[in-house]
Parts: sequence; structure tokens; C-alpha cells
Amino acid sequence: MRILFIGDIFGRPGRTIVRERLRQIVSDHQVELVIANAENAAGGFGLTPPIVEELFELGIDVLTTGNHVWDKRDIIDYFNSANDEPYSQARRVLRPANYPAGTPGVGVYEGTTRGGTPYAVVNLQGRVFMANIEDPFRLADKILAQLKAKIIFVDMHAEATSEKIAMGWYLDGRVTAVVGTHTHVPTADERVLPGGTAYQTDVGMTGPYDSVIGVQKEMILQRFLTGMPARFEAATNDVRLCAVVIDCNAATGRSRAVQRIMLHEKGL
Ligand SMILES: [Fe+2]
Ligand SMILES: [Fe+2]
Repeated sequence: MRILFIGDIFGRPGRTIVRERLRQIVSDHQVELVIANAENAAGGFGLTPPIVEELFELGIDVLTTGNHVWDKRDIIDYFNSANDEPYSQARRVLRPANYPAGTPGVGVYEGTTRGGTPYAVVNLQGRVFMANIEDPFRLADKILAQLKAKIIFVDMHAEATSEKIAMGWYLDGRVTAVVGTHTHVPTADERVLPGGTAYQTDVGMTGPYDSVIGVQKEMILQRFLTGMPARFEAATNDVRLCAVVIDCNAATGRSRAVQRIMLHEKGL
């Protein structure tokens, strides 16, 4: 079976290119499961319940996030709404699993694909150059001990390439894929590790590349030049969809191939 994972969807430009391109990618690659990181889906900062609904309607099955998850406060009530409802759609939106105990939301989703294959999605966040949260490595051990599905996809949301590569090796042979997010820059190191785990350090942003990682470049330059705080606004031009297609064996959960994708706006 094939899994599609779309990198950090950034603002309206990112959502628009997903709307334009997702159907074709799913059909071309015969994708059975679509996962996307949506931590920047609302104007570049966070995500809101209506945007979650919009992304689900486009055909995304599970949304992961990262450090920007709390930027829009409405998401807190949305996460809490899933507590009493076992089949709530809100359960298909994750925040990193290694956030402190008591944090709204969860970091693991277990479901079944359209083709009837059980799967799990795990969202983790790194600690190098990021908030000091729980150890994602040891928590991954605990999570994996409880999962029944063979198909396990891990979004490792982290800043440092070393921490992401380390997680890839740590989980090799135990999960279907470890794919990194957060830096918004795709890396050319996709491969299947010896144990059968598909790996890519960062899948890259789905959003405007005429920018500094999604934000209007003039604003970021001003901050680097003066050190003064600046208001950040999402950029709009040179929109690209960055994703990875993972070909895996549904029976064993091991990957056979991994393919990096970068698509430009239609008409370019
Ligand atoms: Fe991001
Ligand atoms: Fe992030």
C-alpha cells in the first residue's frame, strides 16, 4: 500500500495547492492513506477547527502538528471536544505525543484505511533547539509497545537534522516510516533504512517558497538586520507542494520504497 505525507501546509497558499493537486497525486500513486502536517495551516500560525474540516474534506485522513499547534486558541476546545466522543473527527488531529501530561489533545491516532488496513500515526517533537519536553525516544518505545497496527507512520517534528536521523535509526525495523517536519526545507536524503523503515529528514513546506520558511522575506530580513521584533505575515508567491510517497507492505508494515515529491502551482 502507499502512504502520502504532505509537509507543513502553510496558510491559504498551502491549502490551495493541496486542493489543486491532492486528488491527482492520490490517483497517480494509488495512495491509500493521506497524512499531512498542519501546524501552519491558519495564516502560517496554528490551525483552527474550520481549517481542520476543510483539510479533511480535501481527502486528508490524519493531521499532525508541532510547536505551532497552540497559536490559534480555538484548537484547545477542539481537542477537548474529543474527550467524550470516541468517534470524534477531532481525534484525527494530533499534537506531539511528548508534550507534558495534562496538555489538551493526543499524539497518537489508530485507524483503518479505506482499504481496510489498520494503521497508526505518531506525532513526536524534538528537543534540540526547541522546548524542553519529554524524551521522544523513550516515549516512542512506550507508544510502540501498545500499538497493534503494523503500519505505523511517525512525524518527527524537530529542528536538528541529527535528532531526526537518530530517531530514524532508533525506530528502524519497528515502524513503517519516520519523516521529519518543522524546518520547512525538504532534504534530499529519502531512503529505506536496512530494517525497512522509510526515512526523510524533512519533507519540506507546502506553501510559498518566495519567503523565509513561509513568512514574507522583508520582515524576516528586517529582524536579522536590526534585531527588533517584527510582525510576521505569510508570503504568497512561488507556492509548492512538498510530500513523500511511501510504498509499504501492509502485512508486515515494512517499506519498500520512498519517493520525494515537489509540485509547483499550476500554470508555472
Ligand atoms: Fe512548520
Ligand atoms: Fe514547527
